[in-house]
Amino acid sequence: MWIWLRKNAALYTIFVPLKQCDRRFEPVLMARQAQVTVKTPAEQQAMRAAGRLAADVLDMIAPRVLPGVSTGELDRICHDFMVDVQKVIPAPLNYKGFPKSICTSINHVVCHGIPGDRQLRAGDIVNLDITVIKDGFHGDTSRMFLVGDCSVQARRLCSIGFEAMWIGIRQVAPGHRLGDLGHAIQQYVESNGYSVVREYCGHGIGREFHEDPQVLHYGEPGTGLEIAPGMTFTVEPMINAGKRQVRLLGDGWTVVTKDHSLSAQWEHTLLVTADGFEVLTLGSAERARLSDALRSH
Ligand code: MF3
Ligand code: CO
Ligand code: CO
Repeated sequence: MWIWLRKNAALYTIFVPLKQCDRRFEPVLMARQAQVTVKTPAEQQAMRAAGRLAADVLDMIAPRVLPGVSTGELDRICHDFMVDVQKVIPAPLNYKGFPKSICTSINHVVCHGIPGDRQLRAGDIVNLDITVIKDGFHGDTSRMFLVGDCSVQARRLCSIGFEAMWIGIRQVAPGHRLGDLGHAIQQYVESNGYSVVREYCGHGIGREFHEDPQVLHYGEPGTGLEIAPGMTFTVEPMINAGKRQVRLLGDGWTVVTKDHSLSAQWEHTLLVTADGFEVLTLGSAERARLSDALRSH
């Protein structure tokens, strides 16, 4: 036919003939329709398994995030655990050319830091982002780690980031819209004097690492996609101590704050249930806290 499409993030370039029966084409940019997959009960079970395995990697590596360890060593330990013990695929490895199995983002690195020779030092804050593929389904989660003693400012940024993620998660229920979630996060982060990164967002997840919808961590209430049972997506706000602007380094991956201020990020993968949400990537500490909370009622 006369029209073809080229994918470009949230936009399609559509080529249309200049005239009917014309061989010359003109490109037209049009908003792409979101194609959100709703998971069947069996697929939800597979997503639970993948989510749990991703969380287990973070629980495994947590005690090794210490001064003197290099991010490359953390990557190797996680890689070997995923491949040899869990028998899962580390999703980042070779994803669009990414060279390692996990992302390690230190201090002013916002996300997608590449593991290497850099050793952690007391006072660093570091995000470890883990994504596994189990039986064809993805589980994606990240946490901040405080290396040795950290400044009050660094600790506050990490805890506001953690709270921001949970404030977004608590907005997830059928009938709510994604803008409700983004707005709640933005409101909380900015009222605490920090900024929300705009260029990177949460995402649908399933058989694909990054599916529709895009889950923005800012926005207006009552706008955006209506949340429905069976959807699975991540909430993963990146917040900066300074201005929200970011810069991509020459390696094509590492994203840093333009003003070199500290940045923090936490991430969970969620399933939308009939009356709210289920967090698929809870770590052992969060699971224990949850069952304590249930017992005390
Ligand atoms: N795990 C990241 C996310 O939360 C994506 C990393 S892509 C990589 O979406 F290629 F950098 F690994
Ligand atoms: Co993600
Ligand atoms: Co991630």
